[in-house]
Amino acid sequence: MGHLIGIQAYSTGELQEILDQAQSFYRQLTQKPRQIPPALHGRTVVTWFMEPSTRTRASFELAARYLGAEVLSLATEGSSMVKGETLWDTLANLEAMGIDALVVRHAEAGVPWQLARRARVPVINAGDGWHEHPTQALLDLLTVRQALGDVSGLHVAIVGDILHSRVARSDIWGFTRMGATVTLVGPPQFVPSEWPAKGVRVSDELSEVLPSADVVILLRIQKERQALNGLFSVEEYRLRWGLTAERFRILKPGAVVLHPGPQNRGVEIDSDVMAQDSVLIGRQVTNGVAVRMAVLSRLMGEKTW
Ligand code: CP
Repeated sequence: MGHLIGIQAYSTGELQEILDQAQSFYRQLTQKPRQIPPALHGRTVVTWFMEPSTRTRASFELAARYLGAEVLSLATEGSSMVKGETLWDTLANLEAMGIDALVVRHAEAGVPWQLARRARVPVINAGDGWHEHPTQALLDLLTVRQALGDVSGLHVAIVGDILHSRVARSDIWGFTRMGATVTLVGPPQFVPSEWPAKGVRVSDELSEVLPSADVVILLRIQKERQALNGLFSVEEYRLRWGLTAERFRILKPGAVVLHPGPQNRGVEIDSDVMAQDSVLIGRQVTNGVAVRMAVLSRLMGEKTW
């Protein structure tokens, strides 16, 4: 049995394999009428989100349903965790009910890993604190591969609060593993001065990085985590690190822009820029379903990953 806890653990070949499988699910998903074999018929997937989510939860649930599985959605509010029941006892109860996979999001890094150590079913990390968001990296890789072909040799700029971003961490591991070079751009307070991976550079000047980037991944300013710490105003952030209409004009021709969502319009990206064809936010969301279908079918099928 396998779990998906972080991208860091996976080889280029393994990532390539799951992206190929996700691409094939993407083709099935975008056909009308959809014809998807119900490979997970008779199985049950639990989504257990202890932090808010729109895209990740909805796409995992749709992915499971498209594959024919039953879905049970558990929320902390309304569960016996509010009476003090532990994560481990909750897991044991879900397993006793015969679940087949657990998708978990938690505000603390490491919770999916700790659950996986005790679980008898596959555990999938849907985002844990500042640690990783592995399916986000997979869907970002798939989106870039569809738009630009081979990821190897591309220059990827990841912009914003790198330090507090699980998306950044998973994207860095994923893109470098696939042979891209990565530049981390943002306020010095939010960008680690060194990164423990080859092919990663650091800059605090977005306008210097944009003309050479093939891919620009904008991160959300996480108001709920550090609220810019009073270091600068939202407007100051926008002027230095936001993708404004003026900055959009200096992008390399053919470059694409990604954002994991939710977007703070007028902060990390202007509304006018969001409407441009090279901004692939909608495709990322569609690919989220395809990638999660690939992950579920791999972990719940016969092959381990
Ligand atoms: N990208 C992402 O994780 O979005 P949600 O928080 O809405 O799931």
